[in-house]
Amino acid sequence: MIRPVLRMGDPRLWQKARPVRQFDTPQLHALIADLEDTMRHLDGAGLAAPQIGVDLRVVIFGVDGNPRYPDAASVPRTVLINPVLTPLSAEIEEDWEGCLSVPGLRGAVPRWMRLRYTGFDARGRSIDRSVDGFHARVVQHECDHLDGILYPLRIRDFTRFGFVDELFPGGGGGAIE
Ligand code: NI
Repeated sequence: MIRPVLRMGDPRLWQKARPVRQFDTPQLHALIADLEDTMRHLDGAGLAAPQIGVDLRVVIFGVDGNPRYPDAASVPRTVLINPVLTPLSAEIEEDWEGCLSVPGLRGAVPRWMRLRYTGFDARGRSIDRSVDGFHARVVQHECDHLDGILYPLRIRDFTRFGFVDELFPGGGGGAIE
């Protein structure tokens, strides 16, 4: 079911979400189906449960052949629950991001270039990946939602934050959304 996405200003987006305690339940599978339906409907690269008003540490991300995300082939479709992120180097990279909860805007956001993430899928099987670049950026963006952090809070240079059609008058500026 396609669910409404909360927008910045809704206090639920600033909360720290609760861990999932029981895996492979009908409720959890229904939540993931709703996240997938909503993300597909909005052409997003990722979505976190708090964005549809569900207070649980669940994110989904990944893209299949979406022309808005030319680097997306390197990001497999993933359900990630109770994630833990660990940087694998001190390198930081700044690149453009958007967010379905902050529609119409883009900002340049510093993120770790390389990281390891662990967590669980919907059935409780463990996930353990070391990734870099766009994949690492998507994971950091989505997992931030679980701690009540929207990407504008991480922007350092606010001259690189604005409306997408002003920043990229010729089009482009895909980024995460
Ligand atoms: Ni977002």
